Amino acid sequence: MPLETKHLLAIKNLSSQDINTILETADSLQEVSTRDIKKVPTLRGRTIVNLFLEPSTRTRTSFELAAKRLSADTVGISKSSSAVIKGESLKDTAKTLGAYNVDAVVIRHPAPGAAAYLADYMDASIINAGDGAHEHPTQALLDLFTANQHLGSLKGKKIAIIGDIYHSRVARSNILAFSKMGAKVLVVGPPGLIPKEVEKMGAQVSYDFDEVIPEVDIIYMLRIQLERQQQNLFLSVREYVKRYGLNSKRLARAKDCVVVMHPGPMNRGIEISAEVADMAKNLVTDQVSSGVAVRMAVLYLLVGGVSGLG
Ligand code: CP
Repeated sequence: MPLETKHLLAIKNLSSQDINTILETADSLQEVSTRDIKKVPTLRGRTIVNLFLEPSTRTRTSFELAAKRLSADTVGISKSSSAVIKGESLKDTAKTLGAYNVDAVVIRHPAPGAAAYLADYMDASIINAGDGAHEHPTQALLDLFTANQHLGSLKGKKIAIIGDIYHSRVARSNILAFSKMGAKVLVVGPPGLIPKEVEKMGAQVSYDFDEVIPEVDIIYMLRIQLERQQQNLFLSVREYVKRYGLNSKRLARAKDCVVVMHPGPMNRGIEISAEVADMAKNLVTDQVSSGVAVRMAVLYLLVGGVSGLG
């Protein structure tokens, strides 16, 4: 079934049916990455631009691999090697890329709303790969996919998202995505790092990680965005680690079946200890590899296949 949307700008625009369609398509495409020849002809002749105006390892690499494994042609643009560094506006960048008749643009940008803005000026499908602190929809989709594979249905499951909610586009997309799939979402962190909007989005708020930890099925740790902290929002790093860091002692109080997730990159020794970062309960590597299958599914469903999934 096709998606009800031409673009993927935000989880809030996706129906539960759309999310299920993406996850089911990812499930059937995951096997391609295990083949000797990791390629299907589905998007042959299509062109996908990866416009990354903020740093990325996981999202950029997995979109590039996803497009290549579907046989699309890809072009990568980064801030330092593009005319953006000379001051070209996003509108003119959109008009320039539009003139090349590309089929999709994957954009990461520091400004909230940048992906939606690009969609207003281009005919291509626009995929939001992270816009400021607004949303990171494909991260949420790959997190759902990974959690589904380990826990089965997420209906009735409890997920705690811990840390710097205020600056996190991942938190905003994941609160919406896990809630749409029937999970109960708790956000946990210091009061200065939890914005009021999260309750309106359907999450419960706690400031006490130790109280929450025994109840939950998924512990989702967020990177503390040290580069964005203002003095009044944050405790000292030492105090933060003491109250909100995930170490093996704290993890021992969780359910036996709990899983730990993190979108990466991790600050080892701050939000997560090195020991927990390397434990088998930790799904970080699975999240990274799921990223390719989920992004293949998104590209296939938005850009449109001509040769089926074979
Ligand atoms: N999770 C995530 O978005 O990682 P990158 O910044 O490396 O893409």
